[in-house]
Amino acid sequence: MPGSQKDKQAIIDFLNQILAMELAARDQFFIHAMMYQDWGYTRLYDRVIHEMNDEETHARLVMERILFLGGKPELRQTAALRVGTTVPDMMKNDLALEYEVADHLRKAITYCETAQDFTTSHIFTRLLKDTEEDHTFWLEQQLGHIERLGLQTYLMTSLHH
Ligand SMILES: [Fe+2]
Ligand SMILES: [Fe+2]
Repeated sequence: MPGSQKDKQAIIDFLNQILAMELAARDQFFIHAMMYQDWGYTRLYDRVIHEMNDEETHARLVMERILFLGGKPELRQTAALRVGTTVPDMMKNDLALEYEVADHLRKAITYCETAQDFTTSHIFTRLLKDTEEDHTFWLEQQLGHIERLGLQTYLMTSLHH
């Protein structure tokens, strides 16, 4: 638990900012997944639904911690959705969001460590691991494939599993 009341409030604020981003990511991935499904890109649909579920799990962990610290989870969405119109743009928008989340998580982790709230820091570190090693990694991989294979060939590989 954070020691001072001031630290506690600052950590609840960090948690609420991350919550808004997790919920934005969940919704952005939901829309993009449905677009992939509509276009018949089954492989992309399945993968992005998996990302969406991860974001919901992240939001759940963050809300649990806010409630435990005696705060109020802020569910009014503040982060704007960036819905793309082409597959590469959708992926670039999703990647930009993941980078922003990672940046924010790093700042939050640093604050929590200084305030000696190691439990919240641990939660943020778990979110950062998923962000870096799963979501960001996959998106960077896809954009790399598109660049090397060309968009048409990449999209052919995205029709099935
Ligand atoms: Fe997340
Ligand atoms: Fe993510």
